[in-house]
Amino acid sequence: MPAEYEKEHINDRFTLYHAGGNDNGSVFAEDVIKGLKAKPKTISPKYFYDDKGSELFEKICITPEYYVTRTEASILKEHSAEIAAANSGKNLVVELGSGSSIKTRYILNAFIKNGLPVTYVPIDVSEILIQSGNMLLNDFEGLYVNGIIGEYEQALEIVSEVFPHSKLYVFLGSSIGNFDLPHAEEFLKKISASMNAGDTLLIGFDLVKDEGILNAAYNDEEGVTAEFNLNLIKRINREFNTGIDVNNFEHTAFFNPAKSRIEMHLISKCDQSFSLNGSGEISFKKNETIHTENSYKFTDEMIKELALASGLSITNSWKDKNNYFELCLMTR
Ligand code: AVJ
Repeated sequence: MPAEYEKEHINDRFTLYHAGGNDNGSVFAEDVIKGLKAKPKTISPKYFYDDKGSELFEKICITPEYYVTRTEASILKEHSAEIAAANSGKNLVVELGSGSSIKTRYILNAFIKNGLPVTYVPIDVSEILIQSGNMLLNDFEGLYVNGIIGEYEQALEIVSEVFPHSKLYVFLGSSIGNFDLPHAEEFLKKISASMNAGDTLLIGFDLVKDEGILNAAYNDEEGVTAEFNLNLIKRINREFNTGIDVNNFEHTAFFNPAKSRIEMHLISKCDQSFSLNGSGEISFKKNETIHTENSYKFTDEMIKELALASGLSITNSWKDKNNYFELCLMTR
């Protein structure tokens, strides 16, 4: 089946693809109702990223406690020339979950230095992509942006159809850590299946480390992560037109060593109930939680197993000096 999308011409160097129909709102509503009726209650972390949530995530990235972004950026800065050399001859970079595209600049810069015009395909659910795409075009001559607004799976179909040429996939920030391990494997298999011979995947993994450092990263002093988590309640209020009191929920995040993951939850501070779109009553006991995110932390063994199980082989890998984070280049 051909991929479904609408193509929008922004300017001579910028094209946007809108994946699927316009049903993103109703999917959110359906999923939230289902997740809040389940036991335990859950909401997928993909729903953090409305425009406000994407903005808050960018703020998390510059908190002193959230080492993830700046550590990965330091690895990219140091090794982008090697990454480009390992991909010489390619002029297509496809990024899953591009957000602000700030870290990707190191890679694009190194590719452009190789002298070919580069096409960058950022994929994101948020319209943040339009603003960041325009900024990139301002800063990089010889760059073309073909953004895709949509979810990963639909976007990957569009990529296979519209950009069949030799490419580097980029999946940064340890976003793979949002999947539990079987789903991470499934997802990497999908990427692998859409790869042609010689295509590569550059993927970031946050590593297991001191629990104090991990816990602090998801409980910053300024409360930005708490606001990011609580924004889900605000998003529910915005999209359902409900008046749930945000103050009746509290952010919590902790490392679960048995599962090698940070868990984020929203705790109900009291017994409360509300109805969403006439879906019947959704009720909370005091201290009941909504599980809003898992963020897996990896060991080298976990990374190797995941690559093997997904049919990918690791051709290069780079870590920072503290062994906080690892970037891997993989091929089929
Ligand atoms: C973008 C999924 C990698 O799990 O660290 C940051 C999101 N959540 N602080 C992460 C996040 C809370 C982030 N990822």
